[in-house]
Amino acid sequence: MTERTLKTSTPAPQVGAGNALWGGRFEAGPGAIMEEINASIDVDKRLATQDISGSLAHVAMLAATGIVTEDDAARISEGLHTIAGEIEAGTFPFSRALEDIHMNIEARLKDLIGEPAGRLHTARSRNDQVATDFKLWVRDALDGLDAELGDLQRAFVEVAERHAATIMPGFTHLQSAQPVTFGHHCLAYVEMIARDRGRIRDARHRMNESPLGAAALAGTAFPIDREMTASALGFEGPMHNSLDAVSSRDFALEALAAAAIAATHLSRFAEEVVIWCSAPFGFVKLSDQFTTGSSIMPQKKNPDAAELVRAKVGRIVGALNTLLIVMKGVPLAYSKDMQEDKPPLFDALPALSLCVRASAGMVRDLTVNEDAMRALASKGHTTATDLADWLVRTLGLPFREAHHITGAAVLAADRKGKEIAELTLAELQEVDGRITEDALTVLTVDRSVASRTSLGGTAPERVREEAARWRAVLWADA
Ligand code: ARG
Repeated sequence: MTERTLKTSTPAPQVGAGNALWGGRFEAGPGAIMEEINASIDVDKRLATQDISGSLAHVAMLAATGIVTEDDAARISEGLHTIAGEIEAGTFPFSRALEDIHMNIEARLKDLIGEPAGRLHTARSRNDQVATDFKLWVRDALDGLDAELGDLQRAFVEVAERHAATIMPGFTHLQSAQPVTFGHHCLAYVEMIARDRGRIRDARHRMNESPLGAAALAGTAFPIDREMTASALGFEGPMHNSLDAVSSRDFALEALAAAAIAATHLSRFAEEVVIWCSAPFGFVKLSDQFTTGSSIMPQKKNPDAAELVRAKVGRIVGALNTLLIVMKGVPLAYSKDMQEDKPPLFDALPALSLCVRASAGMVRDLTVNEDAMRALASKGHTTATDLADWLVRTLGLPFREAHHITGAAVLAADRKGKEIAELTLAELQEVDGRITEDALTVLTVDRSVASRTSLGGTAPERVREEAARWRAVLWADA
């Protein structure tokens, strides 16, 4: 999703009263402010490739249906290919006076091939044209994101395999709760990202119908073949209502909604990286590749990439909000409001792509400090639940009573300045005389983690199974 830099030349190729393409009924050109607010070329030049693909499909159909001659169609196609080359080379003369990418390309086509250029827009409007172009762009962006998220999942699975038995503290409320394995933690993200990809694929599937041929809003009297253009552009088929085709942007909203949720997931991971890298935690280290220094404090190595992933969710969620508000209350069919649909997508989807790639980079870059993780995993009475479970299992106590007894053991440990796992048998028996030697064995973090073998649990054997399951899925389509 890298973007070519395309230059916009200022002066207008002047054309009678205003505009060569729609100026027939105008006596004067637009005012400077009108031109400034109306022109979208600085934004929609990013649709150049899609616009040319759409026009190539359209003109091939116009020829096949006899609406234009084969000869004119050939000249138009050739001209469009020349323009594609100019855009690629950065020599295309973009003009703000020509408003948008559609009219820039059509005007250039006229320069190149003359009269037949004027036949390209038969049975088409900029309204179905822009909807088509934009869908093609969003569809590509979603495909790119899906693939990049797949790579991020693979990065997490690789770490999960290496750290299936690496013990870390699991948190709730960011308070030490129960020991878990780092592999298990990584696989949580693999699951979240799988759902993100599901949302992206759903959106992609739902949007994949062609607006082209809806014309301005009502369809056209020309005998067009919408199936033909739809299939040439990789759509499942044509959209079935011309008003809907030119005026719906829920495909873009859905893409942004999926992106916003994915970005939210990445921000949580990024936040964890920031916490894990901090000196008090010291769980992981990022290399020089993913950190920056401070201009005043020579010792600093800051996790800027993680912080930026954490922050970029702001503009991605903001983009969703922007487009929801743009589209709210717009009467059918097309209104110029819809020209404001592109900046949020052009900003948010590449931003998410960067976040995904940066996250994958960080996951692969992380060095895990197993000792630091283990040390903190044993702090804060994290195996207290294991004692309660032992009381239930071995003494047949109701869980509530077991919970109460264990709470008393925690209090006793706190008073002695110990961890619950450090209490001696005698000390435990002071809390409840029924506790036996066997209870001591369940209080280690290793035993705690190994015992959690329920489906979806953190036991290393479960984590290895899940990692293997994901490996089979994710490497099959890599
Ligand atoms: N630049 C316009 C957009 O992005 C293209 C469609 C303009 N249609 C029109 N009837 N003015 O939405």
